[in-house]
Amino acid sequence: MPQGTKPLLQVLTGRRVDPPPVWLMRQAGRYLPEYREVRARAADFLSLCYTPELAVEVTLQPLRRFRLDAAILFSDILVVPHALGIPVTFVEGEGPRVARLDPTQPLPPFDPEAFDRHLAPVYETMARLATALQGRRETLIGFAGAPWTLAAYLLEGGSSRDFAGARTLAWAQPAFVDALIARLSEAVVHFLDRQIAAGAEAVQLFDSWAGCLPPPLARRLVLAPLGRIVAELARRHPHTPVIVFPRGIGQLYPEALTLGAAAVALDTTAVPEALVARAAGGPALQGLLDPAVLVAGGDVLVREVQRILEVLQPVPHIFNLGHGILPHTPPGHVAQMLAAVRGERIPPA
Ligand code: CP3
Repeated sequence: MPQGTKPLLQVLTGRRVDPPPVWLMRQAGRYLPEYREVRARAADFLSLCYTPELAVEVTLQPLRRFRLDAAILFSDILVVPHALGIPVTFVEGEGPRVARLDPTQPLPPFDPEAFDRHLAPVYETMARLATALQGRRETLIGFAGAPWTLAAYLLEGGSSRDFAGARTLAWAQPAFVDALIARLSEAVVHFLDRQIAAGAEAVQLFDSWAGCLPPPLARRLVLAPLGRIVAELARRHPHTPVIVFPRGIGQLYPEALTLGAAAVALDTTAVPEALVARAAGGPALQGLLDPAVLVAGGDVLVREVQRILEVLQPVPHIFNLGHGILPHTPPGHVAQMLAAVRGERIPPA
């Protein structure tokens, strides 16, 4: 399919497509038995991310099962701090662990050459995916964690329910945290620039922990840095659309519509009615569907898909979840969801 007619790229350039293009955050992952099989062959999760042959394979797995409109590079947001020389590990059943950074330490230096050497396998994965997807309907999406979410892991030393330690530093040591955000922003722009050079046709910034910040911090550490990154990428790659996902930003979502992004991803708690009115002529809207209703499946899933199609009908819309797919999601429910989006007969689970 010529690039200009890919449904997702059409929506990202401001057109409405009916039915809307569909992809799912974390569409490659543990809910697929074929993913678990490949994952078992890799030494650990990060080796899977850094082995192009395996990363290409798991990126393409969901496309073999389902008619989706995008392939998203298989990697992780924490490869950026890892490439900056910060120890990162994934502990089975516990999530990521990151060496904690505190204000008495120097900021991690950003050396683009060392960074690119570390991430060469990720760029290689992207290049192979671009070749594999040539002439097909799927748009190839690259991504990075947004500076605040990466900073949150670094300042906290891993996952947290509320990132209270990172938030405390944001208030108590503003110069240090602002400098960290600036350093991470530089690395994120460079990383996305290299992904685009390797073949990414659109990129998404995941700010998964935007929602733990009160509005003054969210404006300073989430919205302002996202706006600067979008502007710098637009300068370097004016034709590559950027999607921003400030998860949990709540009442600041209207401000996220003004960052200059091609699309804004809505989390499960966003109130779309108010945003649709403001989004006219602005960014496309993506997301909303609760990953838990995808686990539920059946009639309730079909009704929820229809509600979202209706409320986002006036604007350019990319159908997606409001957060990543849950590991216990039955793959048959993804097929039900796709049929509901496209007005086709709903298959049994
Ligand atoms: O969307 C895709 O299919 C592409 C791959 C992708 C992964 N992580 C693979 C992954 C993407 C886009 C991410 C982004 C990511 N990683 C985010 C932002 C999105 C979000 O969910 O909010 C965040 C916060 C991370 C950090 C991260 N990576 C955590 C907290 C965990 C552990 C939690 C868990 O589910 O185990 C990971 C690991 C991870 N990243 C897995 C996958 C498939 C599971 C690891 C495994 O297979 O053992």
